[in-house]
Amino acid sequence: MPEFELKAYLAQRKQLIDSALEDLFPIPSGLQKKVVEAARYSLFAGGKRLRPILCLAAADVAGGPIEPVIPAACALEMIHTYSLIHDDLPAMDNDDFRRGVPTNHKVFGEAIAVLAGDALLTEAFEFLAAGAGNGVPPDRVLEVIRIAVRASGYRGMIGGQMIDLECENRKVDLATVEYMHVHKTGALLSGSLEIGAILGGGDDPLLKAMKNYGHHLGLAFQITDDLLDVEGDATLMGKTPGSDQAKNKMTYPALLGVAQSREAAAEHVNRALEALESFDEKAEPLRAIAKYLLVRKA
Ligand code: IPE
Ligand code: IPE
Ligand code: MG
Ligand code: MG
Ligand code: MG
Repeated sequence: MPEFELKAYLAQRKQLIDSALEDLFPIPSGLQKKVVEAARYSLFAGGKRLRPILCLAAADVAGGPIEPVIPAACALEMIHTYSLIHDDLPAMDNDDFRRGVPTNHKVFGEAIAVLAGDALLTEAFEFLAAGAGNGVPPDRVLEVIRIAVRASGYRGMIGGQMIDLECENRKVDLATVEYMHVHKTGALLSGSLEIGAILGGGDDPLLKAMKNYGHHLGLAFQITDDLLDVEGDATLMGKTPGSDQAKNKMTYPALLGVAQSREAAAEHVNRALEALESFDEKAEPLRAIAKYLLVRKA
């Protein structure tokens, strides 16, 4: 079998998402204009579009067409971008650069940055519901909304962000850091895969496999994010390394050191690949994405 061309695949899917986002989230003309300008500033500053790409890739594994899945995939990117805007605020991680440009609050001020995040989160639910108008059965659309709530709310990402704050300036054990990573990062990645599988018409075994793959992918992704914060290149990352140490965050490298953290990431990539064992070449993009985490520079 020819080697799967991940780079071309990611570029093509990113372009698809970017142009759909462009259409879905236009700037209004009234006095509320600025909040959408601010939201779009962060949304279109760059970003790998990993969550929507995973969502579409899961729909492909399910065998469904991807067109009806695109609005939900965009919604996941909007939820993710909101989380980044709020994560960077002075009250949170206090970061100055994101996606290669000054953070949202540096340009628009904190009040508008808060609102821009809120706007992205709330508007996302309109697009999660959009499957209903695209021929997706209503029970599947409702399930998608339920998964998005769990993945992004206090049982998922927000819960993880809370744990992240609770762990600042504290010595905690590895199980706690893993638990934090599963929530703050793994939940939305996993949710994106589940949503794609459901909208693509996938069955229960596929959903289970996506959850399992997403769990390990999420851990590998956040461990490599922690590693990049220690040894990454600011220009390639588009954000400032050293942020975790500056805030005395609990991370894998803080707890295990760099070498053991790399091993842990590799272990989770292997477990993610194992979760895909029963699938054919349709799961090749998901396999390639998992492997790429170990060499990613951004
Ligand atoms: C950064 O996510 C925040 C984490 C959950 C680690 P990404 O690394 O996916 O950021 P973008 O979307 O490419 O900017
Ligand atoms: C953030 O983790 C996870 C989110 C839910 C945004 P980090 O705080 O490590 O993400 P970066 O490094 O700022 O992108
Ligand atoms: Mg953070
Ligand atoms: Mg941060
Ligand atoms: Mg980080």
